Amino acid sequence: MSDNPPLFGSQQASPHGREGQMASLEQLVLDLCDRDLRENALLELLKKRVIFQDLAPLLWHSCGTIAALLQEIVSIYPFLSPPNLSPSQSNRVCNVLALLQCVASHPDTRILFLNAHMPLYLYPFLNATSKTKPFEYLRLTSLGVIGALVKVGDTEVIGFLLQTEIIPLCLRTMENGSALSKTVATFIVQNVLLDDIGLRYICATAERFFAVIQVLSTMIESLSEQPSMRLLKYIIRCCLRLSDNPRACEALQDHLPKLLTDRTFDRCLREDPLTCRWLQQLLLNVYGELGAQQLH
Ligand code: TRP
Repeated sequence: MSDNPPLFGSQQASPHGREGQMASLEQLVLDLCDRDLRENALLELLKKRVIFQDLAPLLWHSCGTIAALLQEIVSIYPFLSPPNLSPSQSNRVCNVLALLQCVASHPDTRILFLNAHMPLYLYPFLNATSKTKPFEYLRLTSLGVIGALVKVGDTEVIGFLLQTEIIPLCLRTMENGSALSKTVATFIVQNVLLDDIGLRYICATAERFFAVIQVLSTMIESLSEQPSMRLLKYIIRCCLRLSDNPRACEALQDHLPKLLTDRTFDRCLREDPLTCRWLQQLLLNVYGELGAQQLH
């Protein structure tokens, strides 16, 4: 595809000037509405998203842009079931999702994104269970958007995600996903738990609590074969947070993952003092001072 023809005279006069760049940014956003120009515009905008801090509001408030991005997303729904997604289809939608991630991360558009129920359009991708690369990549990128949303710890965000049942979707990825998507899904669950509403939600029934602790335990076991410091850290933080709920804390006495109590991870935790302290606090919360001493 050829370069975008300059739309404004000023661009020719000073192609590298700020004005010229702004014009081309606006043009690229407009190009998203044109099917023929969309793919190139997507790639160019992704390259520029770091420099242009106000890309998110521009995407959100320009006419037809979000509709065009949604059109790209829903256009691959028919290929989810039965699973039949080509790498290039997946790649194209992942680029769309990466742009939406800007919108989800930007403080001025986050709540607008949420109020428009945008995360719901990603749930079909999280629901798909095929383990092929195109599906895996799509899940990981979708989780990235949700991860960007939960990062700030806004109760409104957490409430919406809980209501729309994000937890079972995350648990599914934590059980079956690739190492990377497991990590992002666990990060999301961690941030949900850190919110008071989230902790209350997960601890509201025994079924929910056990579903979560069981998945965390299974992941811990697989960590002893394939270590990941980041994943271990999120898992320990999840368990520590669960121990803030009195009933969950009591249940953890019998259900804390064994490998967390037997020094399996001592060596890798030496390099991460914060996570090491979290684990000590967790053992203290669950087993009390005497019990924790006996373990160590
Ligand atoms: N509707 C289910 C519930 O509210 C959703 C759910 C399934 C769930 N598995 C979970 C919620 C695990 C929390 C944890 O229980």
